[in-house]
Amino acid sequence: MTDQSYPSTRLRRLRAEDWSRRLVAEARLAPCDFLWAIVLRDGDGVREPIPSMPGVARLSIDEAVKAAKEAKSLGIPALALFPFTALSDRSGDARLALDPDNLMCRAARTIKDAVPEIGLMADVALDPYTDHGHDGLMRDGKILNDETVKVLVEQAVVEARAGFDIIAPSDMMDGRIGAIRRGLDAAGFENTQIMSYAAKYASAFYGPYRDAIGSSGVLKGDKRTYQMDPANSDEAIREVALDIAEGADSVMVKPALAYLDIVRRVKDAFRMPTFAFQVSGEYAMIKAAAQNGWIDGDRAMIEALVSIKRAGADGIISYYAAEASRRLA
Ligand code: PBG
Repeated sequence: MTDQSYPSTRLRRLRAEDWSRRLVAEARLAPCDFLWAIVLRDGDGVREPIPSMPGVARLSIDEAVKAAKEAKSLGIPALALFPFTALSDRSGDARLALDPDNLMCRAARTIKDAVPEIGLMADVALDPYTDHGHDGLMRDGKILNDETVKVLVEQAVVEARAGFDIIAPSDMMDGRIGAIRRGLDAAGFENTQIMSYAAKYASAFYGPYRDAIGSSGVLKGDKRTYQMDPANSDEAIREVALDIAEGADSVMVKPALAYLDIVRRVKDAFRMPTFAFQVSGEYAMIKAAAQNGWIDGDRAMIEALVSIKRAGADGIISYYAAEASRRLA
């Protein structure tokens, strides 16, 4: 037997040439890993740049259709849609969330009509629709759990009826996955998937997203009474276990880069389809540093995305989906 140490073993041998590095690469990134995060807004022919997310614009529905066609040609399987809502359209009861003609529902119908082979994921949570920017209903400064879940079930059914394939509750209320599963089944949507934002942390990295959907000036306080404490890891396992027991088809960890240990633990513990959301702040950090000439933006993008795969994610929700897929081609 040869000695398994230097000098008979030289790990640099495998790294010496590009062809060899490609042959031994463990984690692979491909367009089919992505759900492309897209922010919608009202209007026609509108691409409204989001200042805190350079390169990302709010898209009117016709522009989102173009994005869906691009996704199809790039091999990206699905889009994850999020709505911008002006303060004047928000209310305490988030009633716009239940309107079958709201922006999300109109977008789903139009995109499904134009590009039926693209999967569509809908965020379920009330924050785009509340006048206080929280994901649930609020009374006396408290976010109500069970009352909120009732509304989320209705929202999920409205979205499924509009054509969304994946319902993705991002609100972190207790018990919502089971309630939504029962609600979808009762409404005849037993084949609509649920991807649970199962381990979702109260994160500063959501900052640019709140700009993007019009929640920034609106949100009162923070979301720490329902989103998870960044210090916790065992609690993520409990969250994921509950959501699986309640009927989640797939689970998500969010954000991604600061929570790669959670992605790994969740994948190892449950062997479920596991997704990670590379959130707005993760995107913005790389873009901003690249714009300043401080890092190579392309390489940082790919490195961050590969690290999420390496950690155990089966797929990634990302604003970079199209840019990264073009780069990979
Ligand atoms: C809210 C929601 C958030 C995101 C997706 N759905 C933000 C939040 O919880 O405040 C974040 C997405 C991102 O930062 O890219 N239900």
